[in-house]
Amino acid sequence: MTLHVAVIGSGPAGIYTAEALVKQSQEPVLVDVLERLPTPYGLVRYGVAPDHTSIKSIANYLRKVLELPEVRFLGGVTLGEHLTVEDLLGGYDAVVYCTGAMVDRKLGIPGEDLPGSVAATDFVNWYCGHPDVDPDRFTLDSSEVAVIGVGNVAVDVVRILAKTSDELRSTDVPHDVLERLEDSQVKAIHMVGRRGPEHAKFTLKELRELGELANADVCVRPEEAVVLGADFPRQVQGNIKVLQSWAAREPVGRPRRLDVRFWLRPVEILGTERVEGLRLERTRLSEEGRVVGTGEFETLPVGMVLRSVGYQSVPLPGVPFSEQSMTVPNEAGRVRDREYVAGWLKRGPTGVIGTNKSDAAETVRTLLADLGGRKRVGDGGVDALLAARGVRPITYDEWLAIEAAEAELARSLGRGERVKLVGLEAMLRACRP
Ligand SMILES: Cc1cc2nc3c(=O)[nH]c(=O)nc-3n(C[C@H](O)[C@H](O)[C@H](O)COP(=O)(O)OP(=O)(O)OC[C@H]3O[C@@H](n4cnc5c(N)ncnc54)[C@H](O)[C@@H]3O)c2cc1C
Ligand SMILES: NC(=O)c1ccc[n+]([C@@H]2O[C@H](COP(=O)([O-])OP(=O)(O)OC[C@H]3O[C@@H](n4cnc5c(N)ncnc54)[C@H](OP(=O)(O)O)[C@@H]3O)[C@@H](O)[C@H]2O)c1
Repeated sequence: MTLHVAVIGSGPAGIYTAEALVKQSQEPVLVDVLERLPTPYGLVRYGVAPDHTSIKSIANYLRKVLELPEVRFLGGVTLGEHLTVEDLLGGYDAVVYCTGAMVDRKLGIPGEDLPGSVAATDFVNWYCGHPDVDPDRFTLDSSEVAVIGVGNVAVDVVRILAKTSDELRSTDVPHDVLERLEDSQVKAIHMVGRRGPEHAKFTLKELRELGELANADVCVRPEEAVVLGADFPRQVQGNIKVLQSWAAREPVGRPRRLDVRFWLRPVEILGTERVEGLRLERTRLSEEGRVVGTGEFETLPVGMVLRSVGYQSVPLPGVPFSEQSMTVPNEAGRVRDREYVAGWLKRGPTGVIGTNKSDAAETVRTLLADLGGRKRVGDGGVDALLAARGVRPITYDEWLAIEAAEAELARSLGRGERVKLVGLEAMLRACRP
């Protein structure tokens, strides 16, 4: 008998889960991939930076999974809004939650909620054209901007701020966003790490790209590039070498300037009506290895603060959730009887796209060990339930129509391969004319 599985979320974790389910030879399987957006691929579409086209092309691999005859894409269907966990357990033999981590972590400092203090999640959603964020949301009218955090998302955000709009013209950045970037007043970007170069989370390849920016001088203070010890992993040694080489560079007068700073923690975002500055305290590590303040302060005169200090998952109604780890508690992917989890919701918001493949494979191994050969209980889907509730899911072919409209828009604007359509209405118009 065929095993019917619902995968919730069509990011890398969801699609690798569907692939692992179909490719095993133990059980015949049908997989429905339910996604709240009309479009698949999660952060590959709405996270990976638009100028990283080779990474974005992972979507070409993921699409092959959605095109397998055993897999169905059902867009515009939200767990918690259109369906409950009980609905899913009634319709399927098993459910795998793969809804990622869609909100920002908080800094917990005064001024965090001032206009001009922005979560990287929102800023990334904006330049990626996510339907949750209006293209008019940001005007880059401040000459100085701070980016808090030294991870790969912070590097992406810095690169988008530092590049010219011409450098981004051939990407899929929504056209309204490109126009905002064209009008950007940003002259100085301060990227701020609360620990040293040896602790930074960015990876070497991504860091090097900042040194190759045609439109910005990259500066590091020699005293902040000093590290104690030499016994670091290769990646970290590479980062240190690059940062120390930048500390020896003189600016050559490019239009923008990027200051990469270390050993500074944000203590207050200043301003009354909106952000007028960022107060930082110099830090050191305590004997236990904790970041502690030294009592020495400095203020950056910035009009915008981008907080890039990590993503976090949100609880799904009816699904267990740990407020401590901000993930769904699980054992090798098993949550409860017939309920499983994979991806960022399972292990937290770390790791590259490929990490989700082995992670999904583990969850599928657990699922098959639990359910293999067991009597089937699912009714074979939720189509009737959705129809009764007036929900008409976006099909894979309808998604292809959205893609085709994006390619057509790019052609009409004389831009690259595609330009993102923004907003649910525009997407629906494209696929259901
Ligand atoms: C800004 C950014 C840039 C990145 N760039 C890179 C990169 O260049 N290279 C790299 O290797 N890795 C990159 N990563 C990491 C990579 O994107 C993640 O490892 C990966 O996307 C996590 O996969 P996931 O499927 O768990 O989550 P996601 O990709 O977030 O997918 C979750 C999906 O679930 C859907 N969903 C959420 N809630 C519901 C619900 N209630 N009902 C139905 N559907 C729902 C969402 O709409 C989404 O499509 C980046 C991450 C970020 C944040
Ligand atoms: N090109 C790529 O491959 C790519 C691109 C984007 C994202 N990704 C991946 O996606 C994942 C998420 O990336 P991310 O950058 O969001 O997270 P991240 O790698 O965890 O980096 C978060 C950064 O925020 C800092 N931070 C956390 N809390 C802070 C606080 N209260 N005050 C000041 N700084 C604070 C961290 O410093 P501490 O270390 O001191 O905590 C760290 O520098 C990562 O695995 C990343 O590699 C990959």
